[in-house]
Formats: sequence, structure tokens, C-alpha cells
Amino acid sequence: MEIKKRFILSISGASGTIYGLSLLTELSKHPFDLYLIISKSAESIILHENKIEVSTENIEKLIKDKHKDFNLHICESDDFYNPPASGSFRHDGMIVAPCSMKTLAEIANGLAQNLISRSADVTLKERKPLILLTRETPLNLVHIKNMEKAHLAGATIMPPVPSFYNNPKTIDDIVKHTTGRVFDQLEIEHCLFDEWGIS
Ligand SMILES: Cc1cc2nc3c(=O)[nH]c(=O)nc-3n(C[C@H](O)[C@H](O)[C@H](O)COP(=O)(O)O)c2cc1C
Repeated sequence: MEIKKRFILSISGASGTIYGLSLLTELSKHPFDLYLIISKSAESIILHENKIEVSTENIEKLIKDKHKDFNLHICESDDFYNPPASGSFRHDGMIVAPCSMKTLAEIANGLAQNLISRSADVTLKERKPLILLTRETPLNLVHIKNMEKAHLAGATIMPPVPSFYNNPKTIDDIVKHTTGRVFDQLEIEHCLFDEWGIS
């Protein structure tokens, strides 16, 4: 029997919440179980940047083209009774997109203060993939040291830096490219962009 893949997607309060929403939409097109955690700060930034009020109803609207076997579990960011808080919860990877410097600091220093940093902490201790789309610019030394710590602990530091070799025309092109690069990290097949040199 094929075991269904499970992922954790967290959206923290940095600019670039569109990356988290794009990952949600694209992941929903696959037969996955997805555990979604949105921080309180991210809720207000999603509203500010995307004009979307975070509610179950509005999240459902974002995944209208979902795969028939896709299941979404929305977890409150302050509820440690959710499955991702435990190492006994089997999953295939966690993404924090975008990852604020505060959430990065919590993860890098083992401060499991909410469900996002707790789930990331557990993901690292269980040696599962952890992808952090860290977003801040410029970076101070604390940010850089925290990225180093998280990297050494096993995380993949993946700032959402746009590429231009693929000649993006729209914000959607830029966001989809980064979404696809995250899928590459998690070995999820996609058609979000053409591989360089392969047509
Ligand atoms: C509009 C807006 C944009 C922000 N952008 C960033 C950002 O890009 N990077 C960052 O580290 N913090 C950013 N912040 C600050 C974080 O939201 C703040 O540090 C918050 O405590 C993060 O909490 P969380 O990581 O639990 O979501 C932003 C705040 C606001 C209101």
C-alpha cells in the first residue's frame, strides 16, 4: 500500500506571505495531507499584502482546484496539541514561507514558543527536511548567525530571492519559480518552470 505524503506548511509574519499562499495552492494539487500553521503576525500581513482575511472559508477558496485526495488540516499556532508538535507524527518535510527573523531565531535557538517553532524543532530532531524561506534585508549579524545555526542543525536556508535568467514577466512568474524550487528540495514533481537547458 502506498503511504500518502504529509507536509507541514507554516506562514510566519514576514513580508512575502504570497509565497506561503502559492505553496498552499500548489501543494493542494497533489494527493497530500497538509498541516497548515499561520502565525498571528502572518494573519495581519496576509491581509495587508494579499487583501485576504484568514479564515477557513477563505483558505478553502485558495485551494479550489485541489486534488481529490488532498486533505488540509488547519492548526492554530498556539495549540501544541496538534500532531506536528510531536516527534511521533510522521511527515515528509516542513516549510516555513516566509520565515521571519523572529521565527528563525526561535528555530535556531530551540525556543519552541509556538506551534511553528515547536514543529520545526521536532522536524530537526527527527532529521526531516526543514525549508526556511527567510525574509529580511539587509541582514544583521544576528540574522546571519541564526541562519548558520539553523543550517548546521539540518535546515535548508532558502531566502526567496528571485531569479531573472528565466525572464519573469509577472509577480506570479517570480513566485511560481520559488515555489517550484521549494518543490525541488522536497522532491515533489511539478511543472512550475522549465529546467534550465531542457525544453
Ligand atoms: C507589514 C509587516 C512586514 C514585516 N516584514 C518582516 C520581514 O520581512 N521580516 C521579518 O523578519 N519581520 C517582518 N516583520 C516583523 C514581524 O512580523 C514580527 O517580528 C513578528 O513578531 C514575527 O512573528 P512570527 O514570526 O511569530 O510570525 C513585518 C511586520 C509587518 C507588520
